[in-house]
Amino acid sequence: MKRMFYAMAVTAAVALTGIAQQARAHGDVTPQPVDVTGLEPLGEEWRKENPYKGDPTAIKIGMSGYNQNCARCHGIDGISGGIAPDLRFLEQDASGDDWFLKRVRHGATVNGTFKMPPFEKIMSQEAMWAIRSYLESRPTD
Ligand code: HEC
Repeated sequence: MKRMFYAMAVTAAVALTGIAQQARAHGDVTPQPVDVTGLEPLGEEWRKENPYKGDPTAIKIGMSGYNQNCARCHGIDGISGGIAPDLRFLEQDASGDDWFLKRVRHGATVNGTFKMPPFEKIMSQEAMWAIRSYLESRPTD
């Protein structure tokens, strides 16, 4: 009996290691929390325009938030490798802010095909605008 338990434990351990390795090979597949300490809290209501535009703290927080949650599709440092749009080229005005927030909150499903997950329930408004500030700070050449 003891022996059988041991065999089962080994099998389970091997299976778990396999899963862990697979997850690592695909990079960060689960959304990562973004620490927004240092940013002015924005409350419940969604802002229409980026309240942190040009704010150095927001840009720094946005860089890490972006690289942990968006880079696997949109490219490291904001430079797209081609599977998703290059976000450095979004309009840098209120219409760009509006489009950015809509996409990040609701994600993207095109012709019934899932393209991008919605971040509304997993990321704060503060984190989203910090990421927007970071992207706007990225050079486009
Ligand atoms: C699973 C891959 C994936 C992840 C993760 C992802 N996106 Fe996307 N995103 C896409 C794809 C694909 C599109 C293009 C959808 C389409 O065809 O309209 C897109 C579109 C967008 C757009 C609209 C771009 C445009 O030019 O119209 C914005 C803004 C955006 N994503 C922001 C983000 C941000 C910010 C994050 C991280 C918080 C993120 N995305 C995470 C795949 C992803």
